[in-house]
Amino acid sequence: MKPLLAIETSCDETAAAVIAADGRVLGEVVRSQIDDHQVFGGVVPELASRCHTEAIDGVVAQALERAGLDLDGIGAVVATGGPGLVGCLLVGLSWAAGLALGRGLPLLAVNHLEGHLFAPFINTESPDFPFLGLIVSGGHTELVLAKGVGDYELIGATRDDAAGEAFDKGARLLGLPYPGGIAVDRLAQGGDRAAIDFPRGMLHSGDFEFSFSGLKTAVRQQVERGGVPEGQALSDFCASLQEAIVDVLLRKTRKAAKVHGIQRVVLTGGVAANSRLRAAFEEAAQAEGWSLHCAARHHCTDNAAMIGYAGLLRLRRGERSSMAVDASPGLSLGEVPT
Ligand code: KG4
Ligand code: ZN
Repeated sequence: MKPLLAIETSCDETAAAVIAADGRVLGEVVRSQIDDHQVFGGVVPELASRCHTEAIDGVVAQALERAGLDLDGIGAVVATGGPGLVGCLLVGLSWAAGLALGRGLPLLAVNHLEGHLFAPFINTESPDFPFLGLIVSGGHTELVLAKGVGDYELIGATRDDAAGEAFDKGARLLGLPYPGGIAVDRLAQGGDRAAIDFPRGMLHSGDFEFSFSGLKTAVRQQVERGGVPEGQALSDFCASLQEAIVDVLLRKTRKAAKVHGIQRVVLTGGVAANSRLRAAFEEAAQAEGWSLHCAARHHCTDNAAMIGYAGLLRLRRGERSSMAVDASPGLSLGEVPT
């Protein structure tokens, strides 16, 4: 099988990657739109779609160049079909369908969450099953028991805000730039994690559900009482906020691993780039004897290599999409775009 071309445009990254039949990344490019949205304090959907339209030709050309290939060397086209912002998804998916149709190549629309789930296994032949996956991103917080490609049991998810939103909304209340997770991570270095005892939502709920909206309220109240902290106090605030998020994510994952008798744990999604979260999971892996698979940092946040890799796993099973495949903004993990 020839390498495949993968495209990701579900939110505010325009990304393309070329993946070999054995799972290796031959070339990849991620063009972030952070600078375009920062002035608005978050992603503006219509602006994001327009930025994708402007960037996609160049991003694909650059990914092919890095792979040392031209379009004649490509055997299939895959693109994110959902979940995501509908206008953004349509740019990448239509572009991919146009290319596939024009060159007579197979097309496959991929579930963005499945891309995240398998990101730690990029560059390997195939993932090891079963595993417990924690997907933590700007839109999702999900604990998943993965038994095979397409065979997932969702054992817990957030009732309100996602872990990434908890970082982003907290950061916004502190006047930090979007995306807040990165700013909080940086400021938390050298901060006191025990300085403020922020609430741990649903910690004792007896299930694997999450809730982060109370944390956002606690951050707001703290800022209203004491003002926006500066200097060391800001570092302490960020370290404490981060610890409240990390603590809940780790404790619930630990319990789920025990209850389900799983020793292989996957940590992935944009928030998995967080230094403290990675360190806490590595410590837990030592203590519990887990084999821990963290996505590489540049494969935690949105990228096309993860879409290409998940696409490859499904193309190998003979799966294909119709050229009329539609964007599916509300897709859940386990659902396939149609
Ligand atoms: O996976 P992703 O790129 O996009 C979605 O599919 O949502 O995740 C973006 C999220 C944002 O909320 C961002 O603040 C968060 O990941 N994030 C981080 C870090 N880097 C990105 N959160 C905490 N620490 C980081 N280092
Ligand atoms: Zn994502």
